[in-house]
Amino acid sequence: MTTLQDRVAMHNRNKFKLGLFGANCSNGRAMTRAPERWLADWDSCEQLAELADAVGIDFMLPIGRWRGYQGATDHQGSTMETITWACGLLARTKRMTCFATVHAPLFNPVLAAKEMVTADLIGRGRFALNIVIGWNESEFDMFGIRQQNAHEARYEFGQEWIDAILRMWGPEEEFDFLGKHLQLRGLRLKPKPHGGSRPLMMNAGSSPSGRAFALRNCDAFFTATRFPDLADAAKEVADVKAAGRALGKDTGVYTVGQVVCRPTRKEAQDYWRYWTEETADWGAAEYMLALKGRKREDDPEGYDRMRRALVHGQSGYDMIGTPDDVADDLERLSAAGFDGVGFSFLNYLLELPYFAQEVLPRLQRKGLRENAGLLQPA
Ligand SMILES: Cc1cc2nc3c(=O)[nH]c(=O)nc-3n(C[C@H](O)[C@H](O)[C@H](O)COP(=O)(O)O)c2cc1C
Repeated sequence: MTTLQDRVAMHNRNKFKLGLFGANCSNGRAMTRAPERWLADWDSCEQLAELADAVGIDFMLPIGRWRGYQGATDHQGSTMETITWACGLLARTKRMTCFATVHAPLFNPVLAAKEMVTADLIGRGRFALNIVIGWNESEFDMFGIRQQNAHEARYEFGQEWIDAILRMWGPEEEFDFLGKHLQLRGLRLKPKPHGGSRPLMMNAGSSPSGRAFALRNCDAFFTATRFPDLADAAKEVADVKAAGRALGKDTGVYTVGQVVCRPTRKEAQDYWRYWTEETADWGAAEYMLALKGRKREDDPEGYDRMRRALVHGQSGYDMIGTPDDVADDLERLSAAGFDGVGFSFLNYLLELPYFAQEVLPRLQRKGLRENAGLLQPA
């Protein structure tokens, strides 16, 4: 038996969960021209997963991305499809949870249900689903699919999509699913997910309907909190958890961030400046803003602020400093109520060893992690 609680706890007792976010995409989440930037080739992904698994990282969370953001590097232009990526990583790891980030409107639900069961069986219950509804019109155009214009309708479709999948994962032998958007007849799905429960589910909608969707359906919610104000973040976490409790659920709340960890604060800040200023890929940031309909002439100050925020890992909490600083930052996120963070480095594989060696033992001493993150026998 693998219970849903085991899955939600990511099969460990770490109080504050740590995950690597975005490693399936070239550049990860760093809009930078730095020559050592992440290329997301398979060998690197595989090595990263093996290392992360060995040092006790709890999860890997990919980005669902179909077209890059141009600029000098074609930011996130080379990406691994996330369910198949998770299958590969699950086969190479023993403890870690591997998510897929799946665009509901782009995946036929029967195909998605079956692919995800396959991933879950490969990982013996360590597969998890991050459902996204999508926003980028040009990605939908590639599939010849029109995005629902009304925002509400997007989540209405998402609801049918996940309802159909949950029924396919459940005990029914055969059924028809006749919804407004999906009419599926004679559905059968065998085998079922691993160990008698279903994969952990997460969602990152930020609108009221997106958040309501997450609360209704998911075990965890990914916020796009405006940092650095942790008081605001704590309030948002408390609101989400209270809304979850009102539905009888214990909703996990996660956020995102980026890390530069060095022996001295000066070295960390110098590298951060190199990443986000000297080698920034401004063209990619501007392309992404254009996709979101933002123009400099409408609000020059706001535009420049957003442009800077984008090269700073696209959003999230900046953790830049010594191992003590980074451990303190992570402790602050935990104290704000977050259950965990999905974070990125400029180059995951170059940076994870130092983080594991220096930051994880500090988190153990703070009571946030059950082991010190050193290589330990399975
Ligand atoms: C942390 C986080 C991760 C996200 N990851 C993806 C992703 O991988 N692919 C994607 O198309 N959208 C992604 N999104 C966008 C959301 O799925 C969603 O479309 C966006 O937040 C807008 O929310 P809304 O649909 O409620 O308006 C992400 C959003 C957040 C906050």
